[in-house]
Amino acid sequence: LLTGCGKSDDVLVVGTNAAFPPFEYVGGIGGDEIKGFDIDLARQIAKDAGKTLKVENMKFDSLIVALNSGKIDFIASGMTITPERQKSVDFSAPYYEATQVVLVNKNDEAIHGLDDLKGKHFAVQLGSTADIMAKQYTQEVTAFNTGFEAIKELKNGKVDLVLFDSEPAASYLAKNPELKLISLDFEPEFYGFAVSKSQPELLKSINTTLANMKVSGQYDALIAQHMK
Ligand code: ARG
Repeated sequence: LLTGCGKSDDVLVVGTNAAFPPFEYVGGIGGDEIKGFDIDLARQIAKDAGKTLKVENMKFDSLIVALNSGKIDFIASGMTITPERQKSVDFSAPYYEATQVVLVNKNDEAIHGLDDLKGKHFAVQLGSTADIMAKQYTQEVTAFNTGFEAIKELKNGKVDLVLFDSEPAASYLAKNPELKLISLDFEPEFYGFAVSKSQPELLKSINTTLANMKVSGQYDALIAQHMK
């Protein structure tokens, strides 16, 4: 049975922004397949619900709107659980603990603590927690649709630093040896899957899948596979 927005009853549509390795990225040799830790978790969520998973790749900034308009069924996108977002969506139990880190050019010795961030020119991903946090330190924040673009700006010397989630930052760093990563005293953040407030059954089933995957060791196996 097809509904107006092209969704069928046996398909579960997950929304993501696939520029966030190792959680979601476009991968494979010459491939355009969307892969990652979140995608593997999402696939098991769909399987347990007796559905096949369809992945919709979109701007991070558009995910919550897409969810609440019914275009997607849930969000798996390294999305941090925040009180602000909880006003418009429900989150699953937290499934990953992360933190923000700073990326700078390798020869830059200016940053040793949080105070050193004051007044710096930040590059961030639009609508991310980094985007919101940056404004506590500076008026100069340039926001991009992906972390890749923010990194490019840093490499071109147009900004002082990139504020980004720890795992994707480490993953970008591996491909950009001219940069370095600085860990500062940022608060931990917890990622959750987001579901429309009108879908409590789906939320329950996501939480059940997560709990089962932790008990079975499947969750840890995925961590070992995706996090280096
Ligand atoms: N954890 C951050 C947030 O929730 C960034 C997430 C970005 N995710 C992505 N797939 N691009 O705002």
